[in-house]
Amino acid sequence: MKFFVDTAIVDEIKELNDYGLLDGVTTNPSLIAKSGRDFKEVIAEIASLVEGPVSAEVAAMDFDGMVAEGEHLAAIAGNVVIKLPLTLDGLKACRHFAQKGIGTNVTLCFSANQALLAAKAGATYISPFVGRLDDIHVDGMDLIREIRAIYDNYGFQTEILAASIRSANHVKDAALAGADVATIPAAVIKGLARHVLTDKGLDQFARDWAATGQSIL
Ligand code: E4P
Repeated sequence: MKFFVDTAIVDEIKELNDYGLLDGVTTNPSLIAKSGRDFKEVIAEIASLVEGPVSAEVAAMDFDGMVAEGEHLAAIAGNVVIKLPLTLDGLKACRHFAQKGIGTNVTLCFSANQALLAAKAGATYISPFVGRLDDIHVDGMDLIREIRAIYDNYGFQTEILAASIRSANHVKDAALAGADVATIPAAVIKGLARHVLTDKGLDQFARDWAATGQSIL
């Protein structure tokens, strides 16, 4: 499963990139607002730092506006992926960009039928929002499993990008459910490396090693 980081904070992206843990980046208008940066400027900077896809979301609600904004964003760098809402106009814009060979990420997906439409529109990625379904007491991971089954039934190439990931368990469950990608907050990605027994074991080894009085170098 590929890891995208769900942030527009450049320092977080740089740190994860240095660890070799990053396959791409997703942003949304809320994350751009949180970064406090100019949208196009920060997307250009991220796209230059990361080799993988960088999702940049349109703000327009209508087809013509989405196409105009999307073409503008796609011109920033070759790895910019146009993020479009799961509406009829968004699906039409998705088809437009797919026909031009421009990558798309169809966002705000909350049902398997929506995901089926996105695949039929030629989306590169579909983003089912796991955490926001959990927030309303619907098991978000069931949606990932349903989409996986439908896409496999028909051989759709659209990649399932598990979004609105909030915890380490979400990451593990998305991997078990067959998501192709998870977009994850930086703190959650770093937290995946932690285990209390790893920390305890390291403490013990450090103490025992010190007691030997030896040095490796
Ligand atoms: C990613 O593409 C989504 O915008 C993001 O994962 C939403 O996460 P949230 O529900 O925690 O805001």
